Amino acid sequence: MARRKKIYEGKAKVLYEGPRPGTIVQYFKDDATAFNAEKKDVIDGKGVLNNRLSEFFMTGLNQIGVPTHFIERINMREQLVRSCEIIPLEVVVRNVAAGSMSKRLGIEEGTQLSRPIVEYYYKDDALGDPLVTEEHIAAFGWASQQDMDDILSLALRVNDFMSGVMLAVGIKLVDFKIEIGRVFEGDFQRLVVADEISPDSCRLWDMETGQKLDKDVFRRDLGNLADAYTEVARRLGVMPKNQGVTKPTLIN
Ligand code: TMP
Repeated sequence: MARRKKIYEGKAKVLYEGPRPGTIVQYFKDDATAFNAEKKDVIDGKGVLNNRLSEFFMTGLNQIGVPTHFIERINMREQLVRSCEIIPLEVVVRNVAAGSMSKRLGIEEGTQLSRPIVEYYYKDDALGDPLVTEEHIAAFGWASQQDMDDILSLALRVNDFMSGVMLAVGIKLVDFKIEIGRVFEGDFQRLVVADEISPDSCRLWDMETGQKLDKDVFRRDLGNLADAYTEVARRLGVMPKNQGVTKPTLIN
């Protein structure tokens, strides 16, 4: 592989300089981490699955007019995206109580919420990504009021889209996390959905059995993570049968 300039290496992805100005190559690793990387493993084929699934969701969002950073998939593990400045917030949307909200508020996992709840976490690994309010976001200048209006609208549109896509294949979208980037066009900035949307960043429950098909399988030691993600991909028709995820070295 030709040497490219590495811009950043995160827990699940590596970013390289893209072929054109304003572009970035996003490489999906097989690494899985949880609890701020206290728990780690390498899951064969996870990067291939998340590359494909994120492509699928981002393409669908682009098609319905929700702007994302996604340009095109390059190969099994890489996609070309627009370079953007990531707003330091993890935007979480919840439809059903689970995970940290259940723990924090003592609400039983699986309780349907009467409306989607949007939460913001400050992206800082050293602090463990603490929950913050819009007051913190405004006071510390992480985003403007206009940004927050746009972020809320993007988050709810992603929720509607993702909930519908999942419902159609018998999966409940319990919650998810997105990240938002600023793209600069001349003097203007536009906010886009960035990073990735995959079973790493969503909670997905089978509607009939309640089986978990997301990263909780890894977080909670519930079975084989690649099998769970493969099931999501299979239902969505994302991985054609002849592209075995057990052979991630295949090109395209
Ligand atoms: P939580 O219940 O642990 O706060 O997670 C809410 C959603 O956000 C869940 O779908 C998993 C996702 N998430 C991430 O994508 N990255 C993270 O670091 C965490 C903590 C959660």
